[in-house]
Amino acid sequence: MIGLEGKSVIVTGGASGIGMGIVKVLSSAGASTLIADRNFQGVKDISDSLKGTHVPCKADVTNLSDVEEMVSLALETFGKVDILVNNAGIIGASEWWDREIPNDDDWDQVHSVNVRGVARVTQAVSPHMKEMKYGKVVNIASIAGRRGSPDLPHYSTTKAAVISLTQSSALELAEFGINVNAICPGLLWTPMWEAIARRRTHSSRISSNDESGREFFERVVQETIPLKREQTPEDIGNLCAFLVSDLSSNITGQAINVDGGRFSN
Ligand SMILES: NC(=O)c1ccc[n+]([C@@H]2O[C@H](COP(=O)([O-])OP(=O)(O)OC[C@H]3O[C@@H](n4cnc5c(N)ncnc54)[C@H](O)[C@@H]3O)[C@@H](O)[C@H]2O)c1
Repeated sequence: MIGLEGKSVIVTGGASGIGMGIVKVLSSAGASTLIADRNFQGVKDISDSLKGTHVPCKADVTNLSDVEEMVSLALETFGKVDILVNNAGIIGASEWWDREIPNDDDWDQVHSVNVRGVARVTQAVSPHMKEMKYGKVVNIASIAGRRGSPDLPHYSTTKAAVISLTQSSALELAEFGINVNAICPGLLWTPMWEAIARRRTHSSRISSNDESGREFFERVVQETIPLKREQTPEDIGNLCAFLVSDLSSNITGQAINVDGGRFSN
């Protein structure tokens, strides 16, 4: 069992899905967490429901003053930030699933949250980590960043960018003792994948009869994942716990898939 006692963590997008799973795993390893999200009620509910020390924070990663206030709140509460998990992400602008082809809002908003958001939050936290000469940053990318996608070009490009940004940040921050790595999750049944399933009727490549969204998801898992299992938020949290622990102190600039064997890189 990895021990993170005494460590303080910021997790963005912690109100749902993968972010919530990461909070649960890191917290059960002993870390104190600041759970940030643009959905404040969501983070409040989660922090109330978990044991341990959790601080809910309303922060939109596209908004610089929100991000600065989030970092200040973490420093006031914990005195330091050892670990940052850049997890907040979207797959399209509102009602994205009703459009056959992503529009300008989809492209702009997805890049603003998934790429600029990661860079903005890392930039806000890193001066403090540099001072400590210690820090662990984990960026949540995706297997969508490993291969192009005919249906999600606006999203895949952001996740390829997150992998590249991870390499750049790792090189920039290495001399300060800060490790920066990325996780590429495979297929998880979260609100994000529910939106993908809603959109399936627009794609002749992937739609089939009148199966439900969940049945469609399970079929994609069976057809594309060698281990024939969907991934869970805890799967992603477990790798995250390793990457933010001192067991991985010689690993930086890497992107690691948690995808049941779908891709080898
Ligand atoms: N679900 C999957 O299959 C899958 C696969 C690979 C990668 N991912 C990535 O994992 C991460 C989490 O996805 P998820 O599936 O848990 O999705 P989700 O929609 O369940 O959760 C995303 C969370 O991010 C928050 N968020 C969105 N925009 C924000 C912003 N601007 N500022 C702050 N918070 C914001 C949302 O409120 C939500 O709580 C994303 O980066 C996503 O791209 C998901």
